[in-house]
Amino acid sequence: MKPYVICHSLGSVDGKIKQDIWGYSDHHKYFEEPAAKIKADAWLVGRVTMQEFCSKKKHPLKKGRLNIPKTDYVAQYKTKTFAVVIDPSGKCQWDTNMVSTEHVIEVLTEKVPAAYLDHLRSKQVSYIFGGKTRIDLELVLEKLNSLFGIKVVRIDGGGHVNGSFLKAGLIDEFSFVLAPIADGTIGALTVFEVEKGYGKRMATRLQLQSVKKIFDDFLWIRYKVLRSATSPKG
Ligand SMILES: NC(=O)c1ccc[n+]([C@@H]2O[C@H](COP(=O)([O-])OP(=O)(O)OC[C@H]3O[C@@H](n4cnc5c(N)ncnc54)[C@H](OP(=O)(O)O)[C@@H]3O)[C@@H](O)[C@H]2O)c1
Repeated sequence: MKPYVICHSLGSVDGKIKQDIWGYSDHHKYFEEPAAKIKADAWLVGRVTMQEFCSKKKHPLKKGRLNIPKTDYVAQYKTKTFAVVIDPSGKCQWDTNMVSTEHVIEVLTEKVPAAYLDHLRSKQVSYIFGGKTRIDLELVLEKLNSLFGIKVVRIDGGGHVNGSFLKAGLIDEFSFVLAPIADGTIGALTVFEVEKGYGKRMATRLQLQSVKKIFDDFLWIRYKVLRSATSPKG
């Protein structure tokens, strides 16, 4: 069964998501407080976003041949919620198998070395394979459900992971915190990073579900995701 997928993001009026020049002293709360109100069994991020939460140390990996099969690994955990990272080459290292109150699940490809799997096992971090060399996001969602019982996933960014789930047509709902900010940085990351330029791809249509004013002058906008438009004007 595919879990229900809600993508949650904080953006400026021009859709930028990096808050470096926004001038807020506590920008995390604008993302986190509405996010905490969305009931989900797991939050999922891209490797770049997870690097804020994983180990800052470089853990040396074992050398030599290791006999560890490239099969999914469910570690021991006691939590009911999960922190999932799409990390195809195994770049995140861990001191523990928890981020905050969530058990960590790494989503890998089979190109990761056995020594990296050994590192994850030594920290009791769970991992699943999303493909041989590329990640099949639909398969990933199915495994999150079948191996961990995850029914609702909140995708928390960044722009590339949001964009890849959008492109795969796997997002059911979009939760957008619109900050009263005009960023204006040309080429800066946006909410959905899918493709450069205008090719054959059509945009995805959204249907407004609710709008709420929060933090005085922010808007929390909830959308249902409709299928992609079929023609530029359609
Ligand atoms: N405002 C917000 O709501 C918000 C939320 C979250 C993050 N952010 C900000 O966004 C920035 C990071 O965003 P980002 O777009 O650069 O990175 P990201 O989406 O966090 O991570 C991208 C990386 O994740 C892996 N990945 C994601 N989707 C994949 C797929 N379908 N297949 C294979 N690999 C996939 C790849 O890792 P490899 O490179 O290892 O192949 C890719 O380079 C940070 O500055 C963060 O602070 C903002």
